[in-house]
Amino acid sequence: MLYVAMLRDQILVAVKKVTGLETEKINLDFPGRDEHGDYSSNNAMVGFDAKKYKSPKEYAQELVDKLRKDKELGKYIGKIEVAGSGFINFFLSKEALLQNMNVIEEKGDKYGSSDMGKGKTVVIDYSAPNIAKAFGVGHLRSTFIGQALYNLYQFLGYKTVGDNHLGDWGTQFGMIIAAVKKNNLDVGKLSVDELEKAYVKYNKETEENPELREKAKEWFKRLEEGDSEAKYIWQKAKETSLAEFQRIYDLLGVNIDYAYGESFYLDKMDAVLKEARKKGLAKKSEGAEIIEFESLPPSMLVKSDGATTYFTRDLATIKFRIETWKPDIYIYEVGSEQSVYFKQLFEAVRKLGWIKDEELVHVGHGLFLYGGKKMSTRSGGSIKLEEVLTQSIKKAKSIIEKSESSRGLSKKEKDKVAKAVGVGAIKYYDLLHHPTSNINFDWEKIFVLEGNSGPYLQYTFARTQSVLAKSSKSQKILKIKNDKLNSEELSVLKSLTRFSEVVVASAKSYSPNLLANYLFDLASKYNTFYARHRILSTNNERTKNEVLSENKHRIIKGGNDEFRLKLTLTCGQVIKNGLTLLGIEAPQKM
Ligand code: ARG
Repeated sequence: MLYVAMLRDQILVAVKKVTGLETEKINLDFPGRDEHGDYSSNNAMVGFDAKKYKSPKEYAQELVDKLRKDKELGKYIGKIEVAGSGFINFFLSKEALLQNMNVIEEKGDKYGSSDMGKGKTVVIDYSAPNIAKAFGVGHLRSTFIGQALYNLYQFLGYKTVGDNHLGDWGTQFGMIIAAVKKNNLDVGKLSVDELEKAYVKYNKETEENPELREKAKEWFKRLEEGDSEAKYIWQKAKETSLAEFQRIYDLLGVNIDYAYGESFYLDKMDAVLKEARKKGLAKKSEGAEIIEFESLPPSMLVKSDGATTYFTRDLATIKFRIETWKPDIYIYEVGSEQSVYFKQLFEAVRKLGWIKDEELVHVGHGLFLYGGKKMSTRSGGSIKLEEVLTQSIKKAKSIIEKSESSRGLSKKEKDKVAKAVGVGAIKYYDLLHHPTSNINFDWEKIFVLEGNSGPYLQYTFARTQSVLAKSSKSQKILKIKNDKLNSEELSVLKSLTRFSEVVVASAKSYSPNLLANYLFDLASKYNTFYARHRILSTNNERTKNEVLSENKHRIIKGGNDEFRLKLTLTCGQVIKNGLTLLGIEAPQKM
């Protein structure tokens, strides 16, 4: 079978042959306008030699003549043209477009996957909420983006390891313990909210009473030394927090492979400190120990009172990850406000000589804004995360109650779909933005049914499934006998061929938004096709308007319904695969 999933690679190979350029030097873009082809290269203009050719155009023409003779390329590319002052435009052949539908059908849920990551390991550090503090919006973004990256890399054949680096250690626990002791609180009975409140209150009190700060430091020291009372309070706070976080993860449908957490590294920091000292990296500074960098502020390894730091725990974490998984790529999905911190961390790792060609990446995310201000789910703040999610599920439910296509679903099924749509809506709204951008939290946009939203994509998927369910044809559709493709069909077909590339690009550039926006584009194209053309032949023919208003399927008179069903089937499959990669469910009906 002709494998047309990675068309870009095929074209790159051919261009490389005729130009002698390294693959990285070849520019191959999506022109975005049908008349400019499906791919376009400007390399004849960039690389033309004025001594040999009259113009870039002449050089382009020579390349095109050679490319046209390339038999392998001819299998996918129907037409190659010189355009403008030397662009080379490639047009996919109709055979390739049609053949791709067979590939999608055959590969099903695996369509778009590959083994390009075979033998390589990626560790993704994501979510990482802090014990005794509410699960914040920042952790929500980290959870969504991190999970999408995890899914993408896994789909590309990498061995993926997800690690939830829980914030369960640090000087703040000294304060929490001190607060519990000072107020004589029954720690086992405190909710995360109450724990956080106790911490906030105590922290405030230290401003007026520095002695309290000293007390907190003492308690942290005792905790680090293994004092049983300190450990008990910490342990209880951790249990309560984990139970609450688990509720959120269950709601989100997220399950992270490991959650070692910072406390796991308690007995692993000494070795790191020794190594840093031995390699001459640890410097004494006012009783503390620091690492200095050429063009970054210094980082603290040990505080002047002997307390360990977030930084040293992160170093110990990397060491552990190297020893445990030997990763090729380390991805940290953590808020952008820690970007200097991660620069320091990565620089320190290089100075320690732990890493050679491996990639260390901080995928920083921006803020969720609410009414122009940083959205907060902290106890004192305006919105609680669980409330946002429940509200979203409620909104989804009301849409589902009203929708005709959800008829026939039991109450239980409707609840399930509402959860998938409500949670999917928030996830998608986050993921459609580039990770680093700030996002305005806006219910209207989150639920826009005729726009770039999770519900829109889920709805389009459900639409494809309903068309297929209504067809009497078996879903394994036989041959495609289609002579003429109309422009709506063509744009869906072309869009389908791009999926695999978008998956790769999303993973490599750590940008799930590329995939999200691609899915929206595909769904819009399918819906345009759906609105303008009939898909199914049926006996009871109606006028187009009647059909539209009733939201039933177009009726086709003696024609291409097999092709159109297959288009529907494959489009649905790709939307489903894409949503799944984003961590979003695709219910059959909604
Ligand atoms: N718990 C930290 C926070 O909320 C995030 C941890 C990120 N991961 C890491 N390896 N530092 O800010």
